[in-house]
Amino acid sequence: MQVRILGSAAGGGLPQWNCRCANCAAVRAGSPDIRPRTQSSLAVSTDGRAWFLLNVSPDVRQQLLACPALGPGEGTGERGTAIAGCVLTDAELDHTAGLLLLREGGRFTIHCTASVRRWLSRWLPIEPVLACFSNPTWRELLLDGPVELQLPSGEPCGLWVRAFEVDRHVPRFVREEPASAAGSVIGLQVEDARSGARLVYAPCVASLGDTMQEAVRGADAVLIDGTFWDDEEPIRCGIGSRTAREMGHLPVSGPLGSLGFLSGLEARHRGYIHINNTNPMLHERGPEHRLVTEAGVRVGADGDSLEL
Ligand code: MLT
Ligand code: MN
Ligand code: ZN
Repeated sequence: MQVRILGSAAGGGLPQWNCRCANCAAVRAGSPDIRPRTQSSLAVSTDGRAWFLLNVSPDVRQQLLACPALGPGEGTGERGTAIAGCVLTDAELDHTAGLLLLREGGRFTIHCTASVRRWLSRWLPIEPVLACFSNPTWRELLLDGPVELQLPSGEPCGLWVRAFEVDRHVPRFVREEPASAAGSVIGLQVEDARSGARLVYAPCVASLGDTMQEAVRGADAVLIDGTFWDDEEPIRCGIGSRTAREMGHLPVSGPLGSLGFLSGLEARHRGYIHINNTNPMLHERGPEHRLVTEAGVRVGADGDSLEL
């Protein structure tokens, strides 16, 4: 299985259009110590020809242009794409708004939970809008119900996806009671049926519960939420009044942070994605970056490719 990080940043990207935090300012100034990043998305493939997007960020156009393998290949006619479908982990704008930018394409399949589909129909009406353009097929992901992804021809592609629940967190634009939030935030286990290679992808992790512990067992690669370095960061940086945990993001550092968890795993590849532009670990010559890399964990960057 091939895995490519299309975008490693959280919502807003790096630099964020309206931000002049230390990281955003450094990128604007052309610092060699910090790389620009686009918003949160991965691409996976078994053969390098048909690709599935895991989340579709508002930066998808730029991301596809930066990755020729995902462009219109030979044999696709005048217009075409290597994108066979996509899988969503939640309904947040940074993971779904890019669907609107794929409206020129042919039919492809969008896999998500029933809650996410309902919200993308009712509160952020991507489904009814796209129905007037490329008219994608929507398929329900059941929690713990593995499905084999299909090529647009209907043939199975050899990649199995299992959704596991990581949190119940309703997006800000959804006016429903949290009681209806089952399946609102999931992680994905993606397995290549032929090789047995397995990826765990979870860009929004509020806590490390049993489902998470179980999902990472035997995984070859684990890419998880690196949004904030510490719990107070969003308040300190003027993002809002909620802590990282209250926003649904377990911080990287601290005794109960995600770094201790990741560094203890046996997976060959362990890394952070969905990294907020304020996170100090993005600075490649800073102490936070060193702490992460010395623990054997990668601070994910756009264009990173894994071969599992
Ligand atoms: C998140 O990751 O917490 C959400 O994407 C927040 C947002 O951008 O509204
Ligand atoms: Mn996000
Ligand atoms: Zn910033």
